[in-house]
Amino acid sequence: MPDVSGAGRTLAECAERATDCKAYNRGMNESHLQFLSSPEWAAMLHTDLLPWIESVGDLGDDVLEVGPGPGLTTDLLRRRVPRLTAVELDATLAHPLRARLRGTNVDVVCTDATRSGLGTDRFSAATCFSMLHHMPTPAHQDALFAELNRVLRPGALFVGTDSIDVDVIRAAHMDDVFVPVGPETLAGRLAAAGFVNTEVDVRDYQFRFVTRTPVRDQLGSAESESG
Ligand SMILES: C[S@@+](CC[C@H](N)C(=O)[O-])C[C@H]1O[C@@H](n2cnc3c(N)ncnc32)[C@H](O)[C@@H]1O
Repeated sequence: MPDVSGAGRTLAECAERATDCKAYNRGMNESHLQFLSSPEWAAMLHTDLLPWIESVGDLGDDVLEVGPGPGLTTDLLRRRVPRLTAVELDATLAHPLRARLRGTNVDVVCTDATRSGLGTDRFSAATCFSMLHHMPTPAHQDALFAELNRVLRPGALFVGTDSIDVDVIRAAHMDDVFVPVGPETLAGRLAAAGFVNTEVDVRDYQFRFVTRTPVRDQLGSAESESG
């Protein structure tokens, strides 16, 4: 495993160092990628993810999705929100997704979401589904939380799902980046990035979380939650 522990090094820089950093040529192995493009995955998203998304609250008028991959989660979201921006680091996934969704309510941006360049206080909600463990270090994950806190409006939702570190999931990530987030650490890490009222629901293979940016009169409690 290459040394990618420096928080200052972006994923894009890692990708450019392809010979030293082979894992970032493609953040996913081929069978993982095929599964995320499959009708089976689309069906699972409809039966498992969609009812939960609909239960967490209104995502609002301008939503950011981080890490769409082949775009099946994008398809789920785009039919339910007026405007969606999907930020994907991997150009070999972002460009076909942009071509497929041209003329729809989706903008696909190919960049590192930890330094997106998107507007401060712009988005009504942000989502990240099964992507946090594809980031090379916890420091990169924390940088993403801080960036999302910047681009979200006060009182906006940030919702996500991610993998638990169990043998079967780890095995499926052979030759992938796999840096699972400990769900017990998540609320504290989100608070450090400025989020409040975090709820984490841990399942057998996955956890789900909902958190929020503070409304103005919660700013003091956000600071005290992060200690
Ligand atoms: C496992 S895929 C998830 C795809 C989709 N959300 C789903 O659940 O079907 C994770 C995606 O996150 C992307 N990703 C990882 N780090 C990223 C970053 N810093 N910025 C944007 N996208 C990133 C990867 O390139 C990959 O396409």
